[in-house]
Amino acid sequence: MDLLHRALLTAVGALSLVYALVKISLGYWKRRGILHEKPKFFWGNIKGVVGGKRHLQDALQVIYAKYKGRAPFVGFFACLKPFVLVLDLELVRHILVTHAGNFTTRGLYSNDGSEPLSGNLLQLDGHKWRALHAQSTGVFTPANINKLLPRLVLISRGVQRSLGKERLQTLNINELVDSYNLDVVASMAFGLSADHTEFRRWTQSYWGKFSLWRAYLALEFPLLAQLLNHKSYAVSAMAYFQKVVLGQLQEQRKRDRQPLQTFLQLYSNMDQPLDDVQIAAQAFGFVLAGLVPLNATLSFCLYELARQPELQDRVRAEIRKTLEQHSGQLTTEGLKELLYTKQVLNETLRLHTPYPFLLRRATKEFELPGSVFVIARGNNVLIPTAAIHRDPAIYEEPLRFDPDRFEAEAKRTRPAMSFLPFGDGLRGCIAAQFVEQELLVGLVTLLQYHRYTPCSKTAIPLEYDNGRLLLMPKTDIHLNVERVDN
Ligand code: HEM
Repeated sequence: MDLLHRALLTAVGALSLVYALVKISLGYWKRRGILHEKPKFFWGNIKGVVGGKRHLQDALQVIYAKYKGRAPFVGFFACLKPFVLVLDLELVRHILVTHAGNFTTRGLYSNDGSEPLSGNLLQLDGHKWRALHAQSTGVFTPANINKLLPRLVLISRGVQRSLGKERLQTLNINELVDSYNLDVVASMAFGLSADHTEFRRWTQSYWGKFSLWRAYLALEFPLLAQLLNHKSYAVSAMAYFQKVVLGQLQEQRKRDRQPLQTFLQLYSNMDQPLDDVQIAAQAFGFVLAGLVPLNATLSFCLYELARQPELQDRVRAEIRKTLEQHSGQLTTEGLKELLYTKQVLNETLRLHTPYPFLLRRATKEFELPGSVFVIARGNNVLIPTAAIHRDPAIYEEPLRFDPDRFEAEAKRTRPAMSFLPFGDGLRGCIAAQFVEQELLVGLVTLLQYHRYTPCSKTAIPLEYDNGRLLLMPKTDIHLNVERVDN
């Protein structure tokens, strides 16, 4: 047999093996006899998503709408990986709350041995997550969040400066809100003051040279990835974030007792504090878990208000009245009175849910009470929150931006688990209360003296960036901004 013949046979053998493996993977739901969306070769049910032709949220929405009401969940494939797509709110409650102990894992890759900052709450699973979660809940208490308000208000004055004194101007809203949220994270999570130019640079480049197939392999074979020392982020970025936190903690300890006004202080003042590198990992968690959704929420909110001036006027009137009643100061009590502004925020989080789905991996088998349905140990579970938020059976005319949906009475008529922008239960967003405070303070500052209207550069309708897992605008939002003193 000549060389060419052998090479040809080897290639055919290899291709047949790959073909067989793909077929076996894509046969998972059929073998288990579970209702599932028929997969396409290799791409499963997300064809067009990897190449950026459509957003993953669109693919999930289609499957959700097709199967809802037919079973509590349906199987689908993200490329070759089988997923449980949850369709029923009662099952959502079991997974997130009542049987959360069966689903404590998210299944993201973390290698805190060689990449210490990946030891954050979002990425960790198992006993490491459990211990860290128990300690961190002592940091994100309502009393502590209240203590952070004065610092937040101080930071928000920077937004006033960015808005300037001009009567009418066109502004890039994404850049405007990013400067506020970045200042909050730099100051409250990293203890930085003054110039944040270098910090900003690293928050924009910490993913380094992102390689999709390496990320996929790390998710699929985490032990192998750890053995091969796979790192998720750019080494230089991690070194920078860690150096900043260690330096700030050292400085902090030299000073006399300071009022607790940053997360860095709160973390190092716990009864059983984390070590300094662990604290750095939690500070990085703010960048990783928080910056993009915070920016997206404030930008989408101003975009929607610009399109509905009467709603915007109502928010501004509420903000001004509340401030007047509290001698011009933004206090915890004052924030509680911003009921309509909160409705507007919630409606933004419903319509433009930054995290469009929640992830869990079953650590134990789960049999749905009173049914024959079983989620097997090791199954990856996806809860399509954005699809639930746009379900016409739950939210009438779901694509209409209507803050009245969040009036107390309207909320009471909806089923539990129908609004989950922060997830819920054991692994829900630990910072949800702080996030609400940060967004409200941001809106107060942005809207008190300024009116936002669409301009020639405003993209209507708005499109999402298909290249990102989170829901973010495809292009920056530009709006006209007019100063309105009274
Ligand atoms: C608008 C802003 C934000 C939104 C919409 C948001 C939403 C979410 C969602 C949906 C999850 C997953 C919940 C689940 O799986 O049940 C999550 C988890 C998490 N978020 Fe947020 N988040 C925001 C900002 C932040 C910020 C600023 C931080 C800063 C520390 C943060 C820290 C975390 C952490 C640590 C987790 C993982 C908790 C755990 O697994 O124990 N988030 N967030």
